[in-house]
Amino acid sequence: MTKKAKPRKSAIRAAITGVHGYVPPDLLTNAELARMVDTSDQWIVERTGIKERHILKGKGLGTSHMGAEAVRGLLKKTGTAPGEVELLICATTTPDFVFPSTANLICDMAGIRNIGSFDVQAACSGFIYALTIAAQFVESGTFRKVVVVGADKMSAIIDYTDRATCVLFGDGAGAVLVEPNRKYGIIDALISSDGSGAKHLHQKAGGSRMPPTAETVAKRLHYVHQEGAAVYKFAIARMAEVATELMRRNHLTRDTLDWLVPHQANKRIIEATAERMGLPLDRVMVTIHKYGNTTAGTIPLCLWDYEKRLKAGDRLLLAAFGGGFTWGGIYLTWAYDGRPSGRERKAGEGQRKGGGKRLAARLANVVKAPLALFV
Ligand code: ACO
Repeated sequence: MTKKAKPRKSAIRAAITGVHGYVPPDLLTNAELARMVDTSDQWIVERTGIKERHILKGKGLGTSHMGAEAVRGLLKKTGTAPGEVELLICATTTPDFVFPSTANLICDMAGIRNIGSFDVQAACSGFIYALTIAAQFVESGTFRKVVVVGADKMSAIIDYTDRATCVLFGDGAGAVLVEPNRKYGIIDALISSDGSGAKHLHQKAGGSRMPPTAETVAKRLHYVHQEGAAVYKFAIARMAEVATELMRRNHLTRDTLDWLVPHQANKRIIEATAERMGLPLDRVMVTIHKYGNTTAGTIPLCLWDYEKRLKAGDRLLLAAFGGGFTWGGIYLTWAYDGRPSGRERKAGEGQRKGGGKRLAARLANVVKAPLALFV
């Protein structure tokens, strides 16, 4: 069971005030996979809901490349100068290196200097964990602009001869800006884990327990090992548990909740979770058909995809599960109406060129989120 954390009572909430995503241009379709392993488009669509996924190709490009693209886009669209960011957290299971952290690399690539930055490793629940951590810094008044990234290059650790895993995963990244807000933002969060689940979902070699050798490579031990049925059973139970617990303790009903934002691992798991919550599927964010499971990237990519449909005050419930096992959920109110048009964005950029960067960025935020302003 998830240990009961107390619902937040802070007068200042941590609100998402912008979101941006990045998926690499190369597509891997079900038809292509059917040429690589013994599978079919019909099997993949029926059992998972996935039609295609994006794969990062290009020598020397790692997870940081996608994270940096998402962060650069986020800073641009929110009128935030790199120098204004005070903390950057990256959730990833596929860091570029064991060290330094992918967060460090993303900062450098996005022109963000001399701030705290670190990675969070909680597999597919990573974004929920990272956003929960970011909220503590914002609610306490420590930082006013925190960037949270969820990014994974799953194609780097997938065995494309294993039909039971290679059809599931894709590459991608999403990033959100988190700022203080008196009206909207994170109301409640739950994170949990059960390390006894490691045997069902892990990567055998490459860490300190089994460092890489010619033998580990020959035995294909650097790929995701997944016992699909065990993970599926766990996922169905924990996703529903965390979602219904957040509904119960925040007095939410199917009529008062606007959106479920679930981790995208399997369409059947998403549907089962919605059913347990009594939520119709038209209020469930689904991107799995086009991105597959991008691990820490799924939830920010959902928010990015649905951003234009969101309104200030919408009640969102985010829920995820993943390797570890880990699971978690966040209940929040959305802080702004769908993103303004390109023309308005350009106007914000023009203002910044005139000087007074911080003031101009704040003014741009007034235009974008009048109800959400906190100065
Ligand atoms: N194409 C065709 N047949 C396949 C494929 C495939 N791609 N993959 C498996 N099969 C076969 C199996 O070999 C099996 O054949 P058998 O009966 O002859 O042995 C049959 O299909 C049924 O296998 P199941 O595992 O029972 O299939 P299921 O319907 O459970 O679907 C799946 C498998 C999609 C992997 C499912 O178990 C699942 O979604 N599990 C959860 C995955 C998940 O959520 N992972 C989270 C990762 S989170 C993270 O932190 C990284």
